[in-house]
Amino acid sequence: MAKDVIIACDFAGEAETLKFLDQFTEERPFVKIGMELFYSAGPSIVKKIKERGHPIFLDLKLHDIPNTVKKTMAVLSSLDVDICNLHASGTTPMMKAALEGLTRPDGTRPLLIAVTQLTSTDQEALENDLLIHEPIDKVVMHYALTAKNAGLDGVVCSPLEAAKVHEVCGESFLTVTPGVRFADSKADDQKRVMTPEKAREAGSDYIVVGRPITQADDPVAAYRRCVKEFLGK
Ligand code: C5P
Repeated sequence: MAKDVIIACDFAGEAETLKFLDQFTEERPFVKIGMELFYSAGPSIVKKIKERGHPIFLDLKLHDIPNTVKKTMAVLSSLDVDICNLHASGTTPMMKAALEGLTRPDGTRPLLIAVTQLTSTDQEALENDLLIHEPIDKVVMHYALTAKNAGLDGVVCSPLEAAKVHEVCGESFLTVTPGVRFADSKADDQKRVMTPEKAREAGSDYIVVGRPITQADDPVAAYRRCVKEFLGK
């Protein structure tokens, strides 16, 4: 199983993003492109970063009717990204359609992972807004298992949930985990954080790290430290 550090490139535009990546002259880190950057810079930013040799997690969290998601995933797959995602709450037909859309004529496809419940959703919102009267942990594991049964490759989750997800969905089901901080760095707006080393011990497959790297005085050194702590080498 490939384990890696993914840098969350939460920049507003193309110039800033490419300037940040220019600093990496030796390694080509895995990069997460989110909605803000994709909607501002467009698909060309994906192509430019890909051409530089970086693997890409395109974090657009699709959620629509199966036909629309299938056709959109085909577009994203043609950009040659490595990981895509969607909301598991779109249900099994949508997730299966997404996999069909992602599969290229040669049979290859990007990995597809699911958001279970957003970490901004709490028990109160679950009950009052979504009318789901089950404990949120149970809902998260149920959505993870539904994603697995639909054929997806993994979920985005907290490192605190990674071990349980593996218990429920199997060791090969990927856990992609944000909410990672160095022991000596600030948590920013993340509520529950883990160090890269603890995330490894907890079973995270990929850690998604933004500000501890992007806002560091020396981003390349911060990235290398993160890789060292996470991969233990
Ligand atoms: O800067 P920081 O390390 O907090 O960035 C974490 C990244 O992971 C951001 O792009 C954030 O949007 C994303 N994310 C998260 N928590 C989730 C899902 C995604 O922090 N539950």
